[in-house]
Amino acid sequence: MIDLRSDTVTRPTPAMRKAMADAEVGDDVFGEDPTVAELERATAELLGKEAALFVPSGTMGNELAVRLQTTSGDEIVAEASSHIPNHEAGAPAALSGVTCKAIVGRRGIFAAADLLAALRPPDVHHCPTRLVCVENSHNEGSGSTWPLATLAELSEAARSCGLAMHMDGARLWNASAASGIAESKFAAHCDTISVCYSKGLGAPVGSALVGSKELISRARRFRKMWGGGMRQAGIVAAGALYALRNNRQRMPEDHIHARKLADGLAAMSGVEIAGPIETNIVRFRMSGKNAAVVAAALKERGVLVFDTGPHSIRAVTHLEISSSDIDQVLVAFRQALSG
Ligand SMILES: Cc1ncc(COP(=O)(O)O)c(C=O)c1O
Repeated sequence: MIDLRSDTVTRPTPAMRKAMADAEVGDDVFGEDPTVAELERATAELLGKEAALFVPSGTMGNELAVRLQTTSGDEIVAEASSHIPNHEAGAPAALSGVTCKAIVGRRGIFAAADLLAALRPPDVHHCPTRLVCVENSHNEGSGSTWPLATLAELSEAARSCGLAMHMDGARLWNASAASGIAESKFAAHCDTISVCYSKGLGAPVGSALVGSKELISRARRFRKMWGGGMRQAGIVAAGALYALRNNRQRMPEDHIHARKLADGLAAMSGVEIAGPIETNIVRFRMSGKNAAVVAAALKERGVLVFDTGPHSIRAVTHLEISSSDIDQVLVAFRQALSG
């Protein structure tokens, strides 16, 4: 099967498995796992922040950021189609007691002026706004990346209003590879950043929350409270460390494959790409075609994709996808769309 449903489907390679098997471990809840400590150190350094905390998932990283920077009854601001308000099972309300104000972005990106227009003056009827969340790259924005100047202006506006900034950087690695802007340059405009090792980097498990020493030491307590304290976690941290050291550099390949896929699809009649394709996510609409039927026809031909709406499909490239796989996928699409 050529699996384009998500970049989370990658399996550890033999070299990654060896690194995991050989990992030096200890009890991380006691602060004694050297591999977790090294992963946290390397991640914090890469993002130019003081500290990082290894967590089981991107969702936990994001939700810890919300919990740390709000109190119950507050409001957070997030883009309308972003992960935190839409795909985290209601966690902002359930775990932090906050409401989400949605800003409709352009491919997931919004400006300082959009934030300022969304804010309301202090009033007994309003919940206080505390935190602005951005997503980079933006999944539903077809892997769009934040222009650094737009992010800098937003952050300045947020700070001038006393708001903290969080970046859902599940695919920050892709945003950096595509833009040539170091992860730390994006991170400099945010108080907290969550990053995932288990997406484009290809590790089997794990994410991190990154920020100041003070915020991360508070996050450690909430991680324990939420059942995320892991013992000999060095086994999985070693996979993440291997991914960070060996797979970050190859990320542009995934972007080339995504563009090749999008170009091939764009040449097919009735297909409209939600472009431009900046990173590894390709979303498109097919006029007059039922996406579920097309996805089923593709599956019969050995290709897996997600139908994301009645006429729309998402395909994501990753380290298990080669250029010749894309050739095969395009043949399968041609057949599925002509059926
Ligand atoms: C943009 C974004 N943020 C956060 C997450 C959550 O990651 P996890 O599935 O590890 O909780 C995802 C998952 O796909 C994502 O796409």
